[in-house]
Amino acid sequence: MELLVNGSKRSSKASPETSLLSVLRDEFDLTGTKYGCGEGQCGACTVLLDGKAVRSCRTPINTLQGKSITTIEGLEVKGKLHPVQEAYLKVDVFQCGYCASGMVMSTVALLNQNPKPTESQIIDFMNGNICRCGTYPRIVTAIKEAAS
Ligand code: FES
Repeated sequence: MELLVNGSKRSSKASPETSLLSVLRDEFDLTGTKYGCGEGQCGACTVLLDGKAVRSCRTPINTLQGKSITTIEGLEVKGKLHPVQEAYLKVDVFQCGYCASGMVMSTVALLNQNPKPTESQIIDFMNGNICRCGTYPRIVTAIKEAAS
């Protein structure tokens, strides 16, 4: 089936119930989206679907007809990082970096729907994204920076 990924039509040969995460990583070679738990619990696999955050590990491709999928690879425009990526770099958020892609994508989704979130709204929205290194305070700082 055809999928619209980062503004380009991509054709997948996978069966309809295959997860978007598998298709992105294994078929399209978009490995910026990470496999964490595979059960919708960690947020490492977060991508945008029509601008909203979804867990790609729990999203079968047969639900995606006509929808616009954005992965971390799609945030950069003409060699320029997205302001959220710039803010995360400026604050030097990450340690191991495994959660980075999901954190950034969730942040973009948050700021799409609420450009000036309060700290409690940030914490509430980002609650489902897990960072095993515990960089949460810096993540909140970076989101405030991106929203400023
Ligand atoms: Fe999808 Fe953990 S890998 S939520």
